[in-house]
Order: sequence, then C-alpha cells, then structure tokens
Amino acid sequence: MAKRIDVENVNIYYSKFHAVQDVTLTIEPRSCTAFIGSSGCGKSTVLRTLNRMHEVIPGGRVEGKVLLDGQDLYAPGVDPVGVRRSVGMVFQRPNPFPTMTIRDNVAAGLRLNGIKDKKRVDEVVEKSLRGANLWNEVKDRLDKPGAGLSGGQQQRLCIARAIAVEPQVLLMDEPCSALDPISTLAIEDLITELKPKYTIVIVTHNMQQAARVADRTAFFNLEAQGKPGRLIEIDDTTRIFNNPKERATEDYISGRFG
Ligand SMILES: Nc1ncnc2c1ncn2[C@@H]1O[C@H](COP(=O)(O)OP(=O)(O)OP(=O)(O)O)[C@@H](O)[C@H]1O
Ligand SMILES: [Mg+2]
Repeated sequence: MAKRIDVENVNIYYSKFHAVQDVTLTIEPRSCTAFIGSSGCGKSTVLRTLNRMHEVIPGGRVEGKVLLDGQDLYAPGVDPVGVRRSVGMVFQRPNPFPTMTIRDNVAAGLRLNGIKDKKRVDEVVEKSLRGANLWNEVKDRLDKPGAGLSGGQQQRLCIARAIAVEPQVLLMDEPCSALDPISTLAIEDLITELKPKYTIVIVTHNMQQAARVADRTAFFNLEAQGKPGRLIEIDDTTRIFNNPKERATEDYISGRFG
C-alpha cells in the first residue's frame, strides 16, 4: 500500500515568482520523512506538489517529475483528483466539516469513492477512527458535529478522514502547530503507529518532533528573501541532527541563522 516518491528536478512557481529551485529527493515508503527549514523556504510548497495541490493556486506551476512508485503524477492524462485520493493531506489547522457529524466527517471521502452501503461505511468509519486513535473518545457521539471536539481530537478526526480512503501517502503540514503538548504527543504516537503501513511526510518547525517521529529529514533553506528555496540535504534523521554534511544544516540545527 505504501508507495515510494521520487521528486526529480522539480521547480515550483507562483506566477513569475520562482519559489523552489531544482529539488531532487526520494521519500521512502513505510517510513516518515520530515521537512524542516526556516519560514518561507518552500516546505509547504514542495509538499503541495506531491499531491498536485499546488496547481489549485492561481498561477501555481510545477516543472519536473514527481514519481509515485515510478509513475509520474504530472504525466499527461493523469487525473489530479485521483492523485489526491492516493496522496492524502492533513493541514496545519484542523479543518473538519464543522456542521457534519463525526461519522460523516470520516465517511465524506468514501461516498466519493462509491462506498455507500451503510454497514460497510460504518465498518470503515470505526476502523479509521481506531487507526487515528480517536475511537474510544467518540464512539458514543458519532452523530454529534465534528466541531464539538477539542482541537487535538479534531486533528485526529482529520487524520481519520484522510486514512478512511486508504491513501498510499499521507502528507502533513505542521499538523501539531495548533495543538497542546498532550495532543501533540497523541499525534506523534499516531504517526509512529501508522508508519509501517504508509509513506508519511511531515512539515514541522519542531526539531524534537522531527527527531522523535522521522526516520529521514530533509533540510530546506532560503539564501535570501526573493530567491528560491532549495533542498540542502536529506539523510537519516540522526545524521541530520548529529553529523550533517552541510554547514547551513548545522547552523540551522544548532540555532545559528544567517
Ligand atoms: N499562494 C501564494 N502565492 C504567492 N506566493 C506564495 C504563495 N504561497 C507561498 N508563497 C511564497 O512561496 C515561498 C515559499 O512558501 P511556503 O509557504 O512554501 O514556505 P514554508 O517553508 O512552508 O514556510 P512556513 O514555515 O512559514 O510555513 C515564500 O516566499 C512564500 O511567500
Ligand atoms: Mg508552510
């Protein structure tokens, strides 16, 4: 189920602005990769090219290849909606459908996939909520609105919604930035549990978080405002944090910028 991603010579633009320059990297399946780097270096932009969300932004343009188990997501004829189904995404702010029930929030994508049988839907809802470590907290209130949950519960609901359609890749853009430390640990535990079955990419500003959950870490950097962001290096997380190859990585990790 988990798939490998190869990003090859990718350049990303917002209209004329060249936001990210020439990124080539491999994201291994059944593991978690963290994207780190200072604000504006292009982490979210790169993440959004991995499921063709970048082109939704007016002026958004991608050059290069993104291969999912060898298949180019940008090849002519590839349906971006199908891509987004197999490469799921969880955002910085939990964004459940507020008036929808907890059950319907999780089931939302299933109906689009043609799963309508109530028994089957209920099974998938339970499995996904269990997978997102939320089942015990919500099993008696599945018909209450998603907005009635705490922030951390809402984020786990969004993760349940994302995994309900059985994606091959799960992209998370700072999924814990709006959460308290306990909810953050719950999400980190969840990532650790999901890892063997998925390919997970997480953007984070929290170095400890990257060190805790990520097997590999990619460091992005911006030489100067207005210049494109670049990938400086990607390696095993322990190596990035203890013995990086590049000076810029070392400076960032140890808190010396510029
Ligand atoms: N919708 C947009 N339109 C135009 N430029 C954008 C847009 N979104 C991002 N950018 C620009 O692209 C560059 C990379 O932005 P991006 O959001 O990918 O950075 P980031 O590394 O995720 O930063 P942060 O850590 O603050 O989230 C920045 O210069 C940013 O201003
Ligand atoms: Mg970002």
